[in-house]
Amino acid sequence: MRIDVVTIFPDYLAPMALSLPGKARQRGLLDLRVHDLREYTYDRHRTVDDTPYGGGAGMVMRPEPWGEALDGLLAAGSAGDAPAATPRLLVPTPSGRRFSQADAARLAGEPWLAFACGRYEGIDQRVIDWASERMPVEEVSLGDFVLNGGEVAALAVIEAVIRLLPGFMGNPESLAEESHGADGLLEYPVYTKPALWRDHEVPPILLSGDHGRIAAWRRQQAVERTTQRRPDLLADGD
Ligand code: ADE
Repeated sequence: MRIDVVTIFPDYLAPMALSLPGKARQRGLLDLRVHDLREYTYDRHRTVDDTPYGGGAGMVMRPEPWGEALDGLLAAGSAGDAPAATPRLLVPTPSGRRFSQADAARLAGEPWLAFACGRYEGIDQRVIDWASERMPVEEVSLGDFVLNGGEVAALAVIEAVIRLLPGFMGNPESLAEESHGADGLLEYPVYTKPALWRDHEVPPILLSGDHGRIAAWRRQQAVERTTQRRPDLLADGD
């Protein structure tokens, strides 16, 4: 999979050299390219923002550098230097649609993703409108809270997606039983050795060796947790 990230803070993506993502890149499973939006500015101060039309607090990202950055991606697509004609463009923003595990699974099937990381009050809406005429675009939110910019959200979405790529995980079975998996429940609590730690015991059933009863106990724990913490996940029709 190819992933392009456009940002004014390329260093935010540095963790992608670590751990499993780093290995995936070395093995050629992930082709990650980070672009500095300021490369597409031509004034002395490399300005990427300006005051909002209509007034109000904060600054808005100017459309021109974004247009050029996206032109570069489209040019790579039409020259055949990329795995598709256009990327699917993801724009992290608190006003986007809520990102979910189902989205991660869907995006893991795409050959080419690009992320437009906004800062300040956001990107001039015409960039999103113009891009939507040329490539699929999704504005996505991580949840009902506000980050300083799209970079941390892009990192989170990228990690959620690439860990689903075939061959990414050492042990793909660990994907089978996790929160937000097929059964729609939060994961049950987990324990390891020692069996007694600081007066806290591992639930004895887990030491019983009775796989049927262990599976039933885990399911009941998952239902209990989901009922207490995320009743919205159990609601009908969701
Ligand atoms: N950028 C700023 N806040 C965000 C959020 N909650 N989700 C995605 N992108 C964001």
